[in-house]
Amino acid sequence: MCKPMEKQQETNQRTQPETGAEQFNGTQDYVADEELMASVNIAIALKKPLLIKGEPGTGKTMLAEAVAKALGKRLIIWNIKSTTKAQEGLYVYDTIQRLYDGQFGEEGVSDIARYIKLGKLGEAFDSEEQVVLLIDEIDKADLEFPNDLLWELDQMEFYINETKRTVKAKHRPIVIITSNAEKELPDAFLRRCIFHYIDFPAPELMEEIVRVHFPNVEDNLLKNAMEVFYNIRAIRDIRKKPSTSELIDWVNALQIGGIPADQIRKKLPFVGVVVKKDEDLELVRHDGNL
Ligand SMILES: Nc1ncnc2c1ncn2[C@@H]1O[C@H](COP(=O)(O)OP(=O)(O)OP(=O)(O)O)[C@@H](O)[C@H]1O
Ligand SMILES: [Mg+2]
Repeated sequence: MCKPMEKQQETNQRTQPETGAEQFNGTQDYVADEELMASVNIAIALKKPLLIKGEPGTGKTMLAEAVAKALGKRLIIWNIKSTTKAQEGLYVYDTIQRLYDGQFGEEGVSDIARYIKLGKLGEAFDSEEQVVLLIDEIDKADLEFPNDLLWELDQMEFYINETKRTVKAKHRPIVIITSNAEKELPDAFLRRCIFHYIDFPAPELMEEIVRVHFPNVEDNLLKNAMEVFYNIRAIRDIRKKPSTSELIDWVNALQIGGIPADQIRKKLPFVGVVVKKDEDLELVRHDGNL
């Protein structure tokens, strides 16, 4: 198992693998370190869901997009909200529509199958080709939610009671699950997943990430912006540490504003792009070490 993966990692991270090749090496738009690539590849090889945690803005959601793009597969996104129930991901039976059609004498009302609408998980199972299924922000839902999906994620099938039909995955989807760790996930659920924590990028990796977005960024502008950014993150009592996406927005703003690199530290232009809380703004403005 190890050898081919090591070999794969030696190849240029930016080259796209052939469509259908089951190895993820990052994409032109997404910078993944070797550990993350290895976790993705091992999850695919073991056919287990990959659970991704990490600070906001560390590229958890974008990872699923990158995996789908790199492997040439369709991405199905199931966005989890506080009200989402597991059943919605399987199917819903649209009784209201059926009643409505019945009242207006529509044809085919007796055919219940017409009123069964597959959810995102159902769609992923029913797809003719293997897809990547992103279950985004699983920790937003209640604690029962992950437990309610254990059987379906294990067996890759579910039963539709109303039509007596079993929906079985034609191709096991590549499942990527993200969590911001707002809630602990149940042990039984964790046991079934491969886990990866995306560490906050070290400056070298961060530089690569920003350059993916702005290949022509001026060296000094990026260097100074990054220094101030990491210094802000290091302020002891900072309430909300700025994330990768905030640095990207800041570099963009600095470029659009035509800010000279040597003004960044002195004037902190567009600081509201990186610092989002009043208390933090105060701290940043009075910090002599930026
Ligand atoms: N490794 C990366 N390569 C390229 N861009 C990245 C990377 N990580 C983060 N980004 C940038 O940061 C933005 C935020 O990433 P994303 O939305 O995937 O973060 P997230 O971890 O899902 O955040 P949240 O927890 O808030 O949902 C992306 O749109 C992208 O611009
Ligand atoms: Mg996200």
